[in-house]
Amino acid sequence: MTIAAQVCIEPNCGARFGLSERIYTCTDCGGLLQITPSFDQIPDVQALPAIWKARRTSIAPADRSGVWRFRELLPFADGVRRVTIAEGNTPVYDAPQSATYCRLDSLRLKHQGANPTGSFKDTGMTTAVTQAVLIGAGIVVCASTGNTAASLAAYAARAGLRCAILIPEGQVSHGKLAQALDYGARALEIAGNFDDCMRLANQLATSESIYLVNSINPFRIEGQKTVAVELLEQLEWVVPDHLVVPGGNLGNSSALGKGFAELKSLGLISHLPKLSVVQAEGAAPFAETFSAAANVNEARDIALQPWPQPQTLASAIKIGAPISWKKALRAVLHSGGEVATVSEAEIADAKAVIGRDGIGCEPASATTVAGIRKFVASGVIKSSDDVVAVLTGHVLKDSDYVIRYHQESLFTFDYQTAEERRIKSTFANGPRQVKADAAAIMRELEK
Ligand code: F0G
Repeated sequence: MTIAAQVCIEPNCGARFGLSERIYTCTDCGGLLQITPSFDQIPDVQALPAIWKARRTSIAPADRSGVWRFRELLPFADGVRRVTIAEGNTPVYDAPQSATYCRLDSLRLKHQGANPTGSFKDTGMTTAVTQAVLIGAGIVVCASTGNTAASLAAYAARAGLRCAILIPEGQVSHGKLAQALDYGARALEIAGNFDDCMRLANQLATSESIYLVNSINPFRIEGQKTVAVELLEQLEWVVPDHLVVPGGNLGNSSALGKGFAELKSLGLISHLPKLSVVQAEGAAPFAETFSAAANVNEARDIALQPWPQPQTLASAIKIGAPISWKKALRAVLHSGGEVATVSEAEIADAKAVIGRDGIGCEPASATTVAGIRKFVASGVIKSSDDVVAVLTGHVLKDSDYVIRYHQESLFTFDYQTAEERRIKSTFANGPRQVKADAAAIMRELEK
């Protein structure tokens, strides 16, 4: 019988550590850790899909969670005190406007913005904070561009844990900051960017009293991997051709890759969807690394060169030194996926098109649709392919961006004059000022 452990992902190391050890990287070689499961204790794997589905009709808190519903795949004992706020169980939408925009026959969007705090982070935070309670953590800490912070703040509040968030000063959207403040986190604004916050958080994590819950923490990844399972359930176990996600710190792509790989090793799917990652042009160290990694073997010798000054208006993914790049690189390469970059204008227009589907998302999420459009144009994706994009955050997370786009006053950073920096809002839909007069309103509607 195998026992679940935290295992170093480096092929030449593979050191194993117990699940209750408070470590974030391999103490032998510094490599990333991943949790190897102990699935041989599952009596009947083929019965799992029916068990998971049946739990949706239960009212028990663990069953109502779209993460803990899949608990057979999680490294926790049955009696654990689960910190859950009914995360997961997010919808998959048909998105005809977005499909047409991408020149696809159809496109589906898995909306992780429908989680309790409005982003995909909740699916990993429920397991990370459960682990924090289990090991008796003092203060839970993260570095964040905003969503991780909002999510951690909520789960820490539910668990009654002290919580501190390190955020780049002036670079976090108001919606996300507001959440973290309301949930009682100690918000520490750092003069620097996300990568500076991450470096500091890693330093703090050496202290006994601190428990770090960024996606370097493998218990985060365990929760987030269940999104792969939930998606397959929603697609009635028909594997899509492509799954496309945004890339920032690269925890999400790593987690989905792990989820699909485990489903395959369990025999619940026969092959992997091609997992592709899209980054903003100004914050694309992973895309650069990917183009240098021609195949799986060469990728072993590759190193990611951090970008010291990442730039993008999609502030969630303004990251130059992604922690989980090695896991994500393997996941993309093993599945036969690709990595693309998209411009600020492409992100902004794609976001507005997603909005026209009546769905909406935050800018970082829209990199997916912008990227898919490019993949179709270049032939990486065929019009008839079955494609799913993951929307990672809710449209209200960054309402300033949305309003500025529609008022045609969204500006990028890399040109001299304001006019040069103005993003052309192809789908602008700004508010109009109308006299308080019914006839004037009618005239406006007839235009
Ligand atoms: N989309 C959104 C809305 C995000 O908030 C993030 C990351 C990503 C995509 C990228 O996901 O890092 O797993 O590759 N946000 C982190 C945060 C960095 O602090 O909230 P990733």
